[in-house]
Amino acid sequence: MASVQDTLRDRLQAALGAAFGDEFAAIDPVLGVTTNPKFGDYQANVALPLAKRVGLPPREVAAKVVAALCIDDICEVPEIAGPGFINLTLKPAFLEAQLRAIAADPRLGIPTVLHPQRVVVDYPSPNIAKEMHVGHLRPAVIGECLARVLEFLGHDVLRVSHVGDWGTPFGMLIAHLRSEYPTALDADSDLSLGELSTFYREAKQRFDADEAFQDAARLAVVQLQAGDAETLKAWKIVCDLSKRSYRLIYDLMGVSPEICDRGESFYNSMLSAVVSALDAAGLLVENQGAQCVFLEGYTNKAGEPLPMIVQKSDGGYNYATTDLAAIRYRIQEDKADRLVYTTDVGQSNHFAQVFQVVRRAGWVPETVELVHAPFGLVLGEDGKRIKTRSGDTVPLKDLLEEAIARTRTDFQQRLQTEERSESEDFIEDAARTIGIGAVKYADLSQNRTSNYIFSYDKMLALQGNTAPYMLYAYVRVQGISRKGNIDFDQIASDLPISLEDEAERVLLKHILQMADVITQVSEDLMPNRLCQYLFELSQKFNQFYDRCSVLDAPEPQRTTRLLLCHTTARTLKLGLSLLGISVLERM
Ligand code: ARG
Repeated sequence: MASVQDTLRDRLQAALGAAFGDEFAAIDPVLGVTTNPKFGDYQANVALPLAKRVGLPPREVAAKVVAALCIDDICEVPEIAGPGFINLTLKPAFLEAQLRAIAADPRLGIPTVLHPQRVVVDYPSPNIAKEMHVGHLRPAVIGECLARVLEFLGHDVLRVSHVGDWGTPFGMLIAHLRSEYPTALDADSDLSLGELSTFYREAKQRFDADEAFQDAARLAVVQLQAGDAETLKAWKIVCDLSKRSYRLIYDLMGVSPEICDRGESFYNSMLSAVVSALDAAGLLVENQGAQCVFLEGYTNKAGEPLPMIVQKSDGGYNYATTDLAAIRYRIQEDKADRLVYTTDVGQSNHFAQVFQVVRRAGWVPETVELVHAPFGLVLGEDGKRIKTRSGDTVPLKDLLEEAIARTRTDFQQRLQTEERSESEDFIEDAARTIGIGAVKYADLSQNRTSNYIFSYDKMLALQGNTAPYMLYAYVRVQGISRKGNIDFDQIASDLPISLEDEAERVLLKHILQMADVITQVSEDLMPNRLCQYLFELSQKFNQFYDRCSVLDAPEPQRTTRLLLCHTTARTLKLGLSLLGISVLERM
């Protein structure tokens, strides 16, 4: 099933071809949803850009398009407004047929893409040996959402976590453990990630203060890179412990079990080849003993071109070198058509530079797209970087558990006021679903690139653009089915339906836009569009439900409205699942 907007676009293009010649059949009809119902449901603005090209006034261009447009099975007679906008209004009979069709379609009428791509999504990519903290919230939440959206549209998604598991930090940590906590590296040690994080902090302090320790740390790095068995064993203990504890948080957050941990260490053996390949491409320049690529468009204060160091004078490699290797690998071995990275905006330059170098080296076929999808910071209620009372970074686990605890308290209070009783298990499950859902939704509903203020009160509110508001709309529909003893899936598909109330049509027209919204998210990687869509869907559903009786309505409204309720709920459930949020049947 093609989306309504895609169908209209096809028809408009056919009309453009018929009116102006075949070469016009492929131009963009500049079609969009209208914001004011006075101008119909969709508006095509192609006449304005086309006017010059064909040498006619825009209104005449619009008239010619409309005259050639075969659309009366879908729309009322098109209207030409203002300077030459073509306004299209969907016909009730078409809407009714659409409602039937999406109600019967497991994908709710949302098509998969014609040309699936192999997409590598790089997330959440934390650094090992440190506890995950609030800074790891956004890559996990946004990356997961993007992967789900792309997958739902039929793309072949590979989730890769580019874990920081190599280099100086590990040298430091291993050297510190060796000298201070040698038993921590025994095979049967029961080191915890909390302890490891402490050791890591200690090691870092020591490294900054103690020259002899710096040498020990560097030696450990060299041993690690050279594959020394004992050092590798210590490294592996640290990595395994970190990965296991990350998994617990990923599970709590609903981050896919399919993530492939492919840390920086994975590329170690490819780094020297990367440097030689840059040399072969004529990009390598030696600068003060280091191997560099001079960047185009980046200069230092003196106006001189900035180098990207790919191999330091001591022979070591950098974060950038590893990313160069990773891109090559993802294109050559993973056969990626698109590489998507989610990190904070602080790394925007890093990615722009790395992308520039791989392109100039000729490693990126023209069909391959490299995208950095950056995000802003999570701020505390004071508008500053979020911190614990003692000034430390907030562990991600604490942040999530606090959301669950607050939800549980709210929920228990509500049960008391409503004199309802629910089992412990139910309360626990609801607190988790709502609490975690609220944190994720609050994050995704922001423009990705902005900073946002983390507020439990706002994200847990039952009103507003929040997960609880949307979960509640879903629950409202399930309440109808319980009350009327209706199995939505069993509504006979041949019963007459009829859309009579404006609120019904408004709701359905919104539902029919889901496919376009998801497609847009897959292109510009902005999950807040989907959140906004779902928020408006919940609002439109509530308006409909406040105006229109469902269970007590006479036929054919009753069946029509039941179908609308069910389709709304399925759209909400699908949309929320693409955001990585589960629904509840009761709340
Ligand atoms: N580990 C890095 C960090 O925590 C993020 C890695 C992002 N991915 C990449 N391919 N560089 O900052």
